[in-house]
Amino acid sequence: MNDPMIEVRGLRKAYGRHEVLRGVDLDVRRGEIFALLGPNGAGKTTTVNILTTLVRPDGGTATVAGIDVVRHPGAVRRRIALTGQYASVDEFQTGEENLVMMADLAHLPHRSVRRRAHELLDRFGLTDAAGRRVATYSGGMRRRLDLAISLVSDPEVLVLDEPTTGLDPVSRTQLWDVVRSLATDGTTILLTTQYLEEADQLADTIAVLADGRIAARGTASELKALVADDKVRVVFDDATSLAAARGGALAGVDGLAEAEADDKQLTLTLPSSAPVHTIREVLARAEHGGLEIAGVSVVRPTLDDVFLALTQRPAPQATPNRTPQETRR
Ligand SMILES: Nc1ncnc2c1ncn2[C@@H]1O[C@H](COP(=O)(O)OP(=O)(O)OP(=O)(O)O)[C@@H](O)[C@H]1O
Ligand SMILES: [Mg+2]
Repeated sequence: MNDPMIEVRGLRKAYGRHEVLRGVDLDVRRGEIFALLGPNGAGKTTTVNILTTLVRPDGGTATVAGIDVVRHPGAVRRRIALTGQYASVDEFQTGEENLVMMADLAHLPHRSVRRRAHELLDRFGLTDAAGRRVATYSGGMRRRLDLAISLVSDPEVLVLDEPTTGLDPVSRTQLWDVVRSLATDGTTILLTTQYLEEADQLADTIAVLADGRIAARGTASELKALVADDKVRVVFDDATSLAAARGGALAGVDGLAEAEADDKQLTLTLPSSAPVHTIREVLARAEHGGLEIAGVSVVRPTLDDVFLALTQRPAPQATPNRTPQETRR
């Protein structure tokens, strides 16, 4: 699990004067699901196109299974498959015909072409639709067929460029299951996405691409921890408590917790690293001041917080007063 499958060092690419990649470093381990996250135009497609030998870099190096993508593109292509941002299936052929055509192009032995096609149709839940023209498929079915096609040659590395953009939640979840099962079977997966939830759900490692470089990398939890500590949130939501709070009952918690109030709720937040006696003290003082506690919860930062902090100006340290948000998990 620890040997590197993709290694990228100082990768650079410009289109005219526009420097899209300005020194990208990436390490993807064999068998992991790695998510490259970035806003529109960050250079995600450019990066994966370089790795799959479709685009030549201006500088830096990239290897797949130890093979240099610029010096030995043919050998790299035998190990890596790309499912592009836009599904590339032939509308006028059936699902099965599409697969058989790609298996032929991949020079699979004639005897095994049909067997492989049927295996893949089965795996992707397309057996019933195998004989129908792709023009009649739904968006989710096309994506699955596209993915099946890229697996024809049994690649060691599968690159998915925004695999679920435009899919409804059900199709998206189905595709996630397929990706997970591929990884379980040992395929290394590099996916790009703009969906934080997708990275959160699927990826072992996440790298955020911003301003032509990797702005941060780590597990979802590591990235969340980068941006902010977990918070303990205490909510008071009855009118008497709010009135009491406004009347100064909270003066006692100053310095121990941050207080935020709107018309309906008063929220106290304090870092989860606060010692238990501090948390108890805050609750005791609030109760003493006549505040009825409606709920206590731990609030974790979400990947949205990370993403916004890393990909938007001003820089994270300039926005200290982030609103606590419930985590989705
Ligand atoms: N062939 C090209 N010629 C000129 N500019 C290009 C070319 N390909 C990409 N670019 C520019 O490079 C930048 C990065 O594009 P890229 O497609 O890699 O971004 P992306 O992160 O995949 O974005 P998206 O989320 O929209 O797919 C964009 O500003 C784009 O306009
Ligand atoms: Mg793209």
